[in-house]
Amino acid sequence: MTTPTLSSSQIRRDFQEFFLGKGHTIVPSAPLVPGNDPTLLFTNSGMVQFKDVFLGAEKRSYVRAADVQRCLRAGGKHNDLDSVGYTARHHTFFEMLGNWSFGDYFKKDAIAWAWELLTEVWKLPKERLLVTVYHTDDEAYELWNKMVGIPAERIVRIGDNKGAPYASDNFWQMADTGPCGPCTEIFYDHGDHIAGGPPGSPDEDGDRFIEIWNLVFMQFDRQPDGTLIPLPAPCVDTGMGMERLAAILQNVHTNYEIDIFQALIAEASRFTGTADLQNKSLRVIADHIRACSFLVVDGVLPSNEGRGYVLRRIIRRALRHGWMLGVRQPFFYKMVATLVDLMGEAYPELSAAQQLVEKALKAEEERFAETLDSGMRIFDEIATRVSAVIPGADAFRLYDTYGFPVDLTADIARERGLSVDMEGFDAAMAQQRETARAAGKFTSTAGLPADLVARLKPTEFMGYQSLDAGGLVIAALMKEGRPVEAVDAGDEAVVILDRTPFYAESGGQVGDTGVLAEQGVKFEVADTVKFAGQFHGHVGKVAIGGLRVGDHLVASVDAPRRAAVILNHSATHLLHAALRELLGTHVQQKGSLVAPDKLRFDFSHFQPVTAEELAEVERRVNAEIRANHSAEVHNMGMQEALDFGAMALFGEKYGENVRVLKMGGYSTELCGGTHVGRTGDIGLFKIVSEAGVSSGVRRIEAVTGQGALDLVSAEEQRLHDVAALLGGNASEVVEKIRQLMERQKKLERELEGLKAKAASGATADLAGMASDIGGVRVLAARLEGFDAKALREAIDRLKQQLGDAVIVLAGTAGGKASLVAGVNGSATGKVKAGELLAHIASQTGGKGGGRPDLAQGGGEDGPALATALEGVNEWVRVRLQ
Ligand code: ALA
Repeated sequence: MTTPTLSSSQIRRDFQEFFLGKGHTIVPSAPLVPGNDPTLLFTNSGMVQFKDVFLGAEKRSYVRAADVQRCLRAGGKHNDLDSVGYTARHHTFFEMLGNWSFGDYFKKDAIAWAWELLTEVWKLPKERLLVTVYHTDDEAYELWNKMVGIPAERIVRIGDNKGAPYASDNFWQMADTGPCGPCTEIFYDHGDHIAGGPPGSPDEDGDRFIEIWNLVFMQFDRQPDGTLIPLPAPCVDTGMGMERLAAILQNVHTNYEIDIFQALIAEASRFTGTADLQNKSLRVIADHIRACSFLVVDGVLPSNEGRGYVLRRIIRRALRHGWMLGVRQPFFYKMVATLVDLMGEAYPELSAAQQLVEKALKAEEERFAETLDSGMRIFDEIATRVSAVIPGADAFRLYDTYGFPVDLTADIARERGLSVDMEGFDAAMAQQRETARAAGKFTSTAGLPADLVARLKPTEFMGYQSLDAGGLVIAALMKEGRPVEAVDAGDEAVVILDRTPFYAESGGQVGDTGVLAEQGVKFEVADTVKFAGQFHGHVGKVAIGGLRVGDHLVASVDAPRRAAVILNHSATHLLHAALRELLGTHVQQKGSLVAPDKLRFDFSHFQPVTAEELAEVERRVNAEIRANHSAEVHNMGMQEALDFGAMALFGEKYGENVRVLKMGGYSTELCGGTHVGRTGDIGLFKIVSEAGVSSGVRRIEAVTGQGALDLVSAEEQRLHDVAALLGGNASEVVEKIRQLMERQKKLERELEGLKAKAASGATADLAGMASDIGGVRVLAARLEGFDAKALREAIDRLKQQLGDAVIVLAGTAGGKASLVAGVNGSATGKVKAGELLAHIASQTGGKGGGRPDLAQGGGEDGPALATALEGVNEWVRVRLQ
């Protein structure tokens, strides 16, 4: 090939410029965590952020878009995790170059532009390109053949080759439901020196013919039952793998040889001391550091469920490969800096989160280090015991005790020619869940039936301006989700109005309560929830009368409660801003609850917030409250909002038009919630507690307004109570307590002195009780209330008083006996304190031992102790003979 090689950065720029020139709007990459889409674990392709636009549920100001989207295919429908390291072109994380038409251009332009970019801008040799089309798509076939001029032998028709109608390499779908359609794919032939056959041939999985660009002609919305409903308008969705394309444009054969991977592999080889750059484990580590870093950037932290568990699995897989290369210290997190150098320019959010990413990865490395070594030993034991299959119970033990995700175990097994009994593992897992199942309350409100969603107009929310408004009942459901035409007195139900001032729970803010009423009708609303993201469901009970679909009702929100909620909501924004200002921009919201009585804010931070920091946060928030900024609401485009400096929360879904709440120059955040008019309305902000919720996540609870005043009053009252107990007033409390403590210290010192005096008096008496056995003084005594320390001191004194001596003392308290034995002078050598003590202890149900001259232990207090002490003289006599 004659083209000079292009860097990854240049490829991204070329792509965007090309489509800008074709009238496309360049859109930023969405996070890896799709906003508000429970059908999808991760953004697995460029079209995810446009899903609702295809479905017609969202409108944008443009009909052509292009972007470079970060994607993850690990967990979920598209999962390449297990292939990483084994092929030249599979990744967990990758970048997808895509262009879109939303009901604008279709097959002809999509095909023509793809060809132009590849062969004219990037000058790929035409004879190296092949295409596939869906078997019935004659239109695409003709366009390639007639318009572009590709000969028939390089156009392959692919049918339903995956065992069901529309299950084909050339019929693309995002997930089991959602937008889908036939596609045409462009392949590049790396040359006959590489093994593999063309698409559609038996050895198509080889590395010779590589798919580089997929042009999907989105036409349907797949339903859960498999039926295909036509989209409002045909659309185009294309996706080109950046890494595969870079391999071609950089004249290399595998993705792992492109610039980004070369640099990451070099770094991994340095940290692991591995000279062989072809080592498979280095590739795995280089791939995984990208996935793991961007997941943290997009708000995911390692955990045991959902997205956090996928992250944990990828990190642990990388660590195990490091372990195989002999690494025993945390190393993975150190690769983040290089990744930031390589990709931080294209993804500024990566640079911004560098510190957080490093901390999160390091913490997980430290955690897994505790069990990786022993887990590998256990694995080896299992592997020598089985011939082909690791039993499910063993895989479960590795999972449960050693933190080995089952796919990690399977990965190790595969290297040794073994497999894992997955069914057995699942069964063991299910059994554990069954045992652990808590009697948790099932609170999820069943969704709205699809036909209602399609038929009804979204609820108009009036609650930013007013707390009372009339509306029409457009749907009613019984509590368990069954749609009905009417509900009667006593029924628990959900009522949906065409317009309402009731805020439906979202963004952490609780749903409103209140009443829906009309002459002779009263529906008490206990909560308001959102259905399908757009219908406000009033959940409650018919108190008086009955109501039907079509009825008019006046909806009145519980105003004092809402008033309390908004203070907490606005204060949450100020708190968020103060934490970021004081602790750093790694602080990201991980959860929030805005209720009438308090606010709760969870955020990423790797150590407890100190008392001084908390005091400072509180001080800053209160300063912003007193500044009495007006809380301005701006409606604007998403991009404009980001340019405006608004903070967007990862994992939240924002439409093209967003609502921005700005309080002074201090806080600017995207938010659909309800807020104060001026910050001064909040009155006062007081932090109640700070604690850890999970690794890397802290939680602050706080109160505002009347709640904060109540807190201050309660504390004041406590202070007065303390003062009254101390017999003074509040201002004297500290001094009084200081005096009390000093006095107590003095008394303790006096007490110690008296005890010592009493003890030496007691030992003087004791000395007189010693027997003489062949010139050695032998003493065995029981001392009520003496602890081990006092006994040792007594023994020291008695040794001085008695000279050649054998002494056993038992200090008794609460049914237990501390035992100390000492031997002094000429008796040493004949009698061993350790043996004597063991002898006594064994008779009193205890144990002990020590040096020949001093030993200690313990046992039970009781008749056996008395007998044991009585026997001491005899025991010594025998040994002195
Ligand atoms: N959405 C299509 C894909 O991911 C372009 O291949």
